[in-house]
Amino acid sequence: MRDTDHDAPDTEAQSDDDRRQSGAWWRSHGGRPVTDGGTETDADGVTLDPWGSATVGDYQNLFAEFGIEDFRDVIDDVPTPHHLMRRRVIFGHRGYDRVARALANDEPAAALSGFMPTGDPHIGHKLVFDELIWHQRQGADTYGLIADLEAHAARGLSWDEIDEHARDYLLSLIALGFDPEEGELYRQSTNDRLQSLAFELGGNARFSEFQSIYGFDGETSVSHMQSVVTQMADILYPQLDEPKPTVIPVGPDQDPHVRLARDLAARTRFFKVTEAFASFAADPPERELLGRAHDAREEWADDPDRPRCEDAADWIAEASVPEELSTARDRVVEKLTNAGMEPLRPRVRLLDRNADEAAFDALIEAVDGEKRVFDEHVDCFDLSREAAEELAREVELDHGGYGFRTPSSIYHRFMTGLTGGKMSSSVPASHISLLDDPEDGYDKVMAATTGGRSTAEKQRELGGEPDDCPVYELYAYLLSRDDDEFAQRVYDECADGDRLCGGCKEQAAELMEAFLEEHQEARAEAAELLESLDVDLDVDASRRGVAPAEE
Ligand code: TRP
Ligand code: SF4
Repeated sequence: MRDTDHDAPDTEAQSDDDRRQSGAWWRSHGGRPVTDGGTETDADGVTLDPWGSATVGDYQNLFAEFGIEDFRDVIDDVPTPHHLMRRRVIFGHRGYDRVARALANDEPAAALSGFMPTGDPHIGHKLVFDELIWHQRQGADTYGLIADLEAHAARGLSWDEIDEHARDYLLSLIALGFDPEEGELYRQSTNDRLQSLAFELGGNARFSEFQSIYGFDGETSVSHMQSVVTQMADILYPQLDEPKPTVIPVGPDQDPHVRLARDLAARTRFFKVTEAFASFAADPPERELLGRAHDAREEWADDPDRPRCEDAADWIAEASVPEELSTARDRVVEKLTNAGMEPLRPRVRLLDRNADEAAFDALIEAVDGEKRVFDEHVDCFDLSREAAEELAREVELDHGGYGFRTPSSIYHRFMTGLTGGKMSSSVPASHISLLDDPEDGYDKVMAATTGGRSTAEKQRELGGEPDDCPVYELYAYLLSRDDDEFAQRVYDECADGDRLCGGCKEQAAELMEAFLEEHQEARAEAAELLESLDVDLDVDASRRGVAPAEE
């Protein structure tokens, strides 16, 4: 495990003072804007465990350690960013640019997320509900699912408990604005198409991966493993009728699932598209070097219109390259030398991965312009990479494949528990359930810990610490709704010492009470709507298992 501090990118090493001065905290591009779930001092780094405890000490670390991308890099591509995006509650993503582009261009896109019905839906789940609803309003095909197989297999809930909670999640999702006639709601256990897809995907997954990704071992139940392939199927389900950019809004604890689903999606593909410069195969660092050599061919080729591999070898052997490319350099020099007089020439390569002969032949046929056909690949000289991707997908779909696009994800921060520490479904005082009596909601906010000082005088003098205040988080995540100015005002007043915790909590408590009242009325209306839909909420009678014991 790496040490968190040492890996934090420099740009984020900004002091509290810088952050205060920059004012609009979620707009400032350097500061660390929202509280981190109360475990700042998580000294032994971060683990992402879908069934473990959901806290993250240092969100910055997720970029360096796991390759999650910074949401700030894509937010400008999002047509009208949601307030959770603007306020950096949504902090990271994988491949969301594709989804943002599709939304901006009114092209097909989808959004899907799932909920384990292990307790009441609470204000932490509301983040995901809101993300789904926003994507639906932006025109995406949107799916909400009840992960009942997972709740049973991984969390040991009985079917009766699951049935009771499943309905509550869907009611809140609809009450908050999800349109169930436009989108789709399902539960894992009763969805046959989903189960068939899970079975197919399982054919591409190996137990050894489950071991290394999830720490599964000989004591892990087979049903638990099946719930993983089911989640893989959930993630790709929106693409069953038509491949399209799909976003999975989740907490970062789900990232291992997202990565595996991205892998599996690629493994099912008939063809793989890569770029190459000669007949031999090259890995990405080797290709990087080949690209450099090709770009510099004026310098070294006898005839720049027909640069030779062996001359490129001489040039690369002498060129100055970064340390991390030096072993690739040795390999590529050898390959180029062996290729001798062959011209160095960029091309798009379509590799046969899972295609049958008919599909491969059809692909070859479909390539326009100059091409060279090999046993297991075809090199195309007049095709862009994008055009090649399109072509490969079309041929795959024509020949009975799925043609999946790699699914994308966005990650939101976990809310801090009202009592400090993590927000947990199993600790009622730590969260506000969407089913809580509005007055209880009021009381829970009033009882919350704050980022306030020990006395009013000190608070006036030093200001409060909104970045370490669960009450401020309520404002930023939920109570300010779409009103950035209001959220900013609360922040500034607190930090400047113009706001004292008593009044601040009272205001938050009133807003919370009003929200719960409104939400619960909307739930009553949603109940009627849900009745009239054909969402199968009762579990099949063949499922009688008692909760499986594991570990
Ligand atoms: N594993 C998720 C959780 O723990 C639930 C889930 C199941 C899910 N299938 C999904 C989430 C697909 C996102 C996408 O809550
Ligand atoms: Fe938190 Fe409000 Fe107190 Fe500031 S004034 S520390 S935001 S409760």
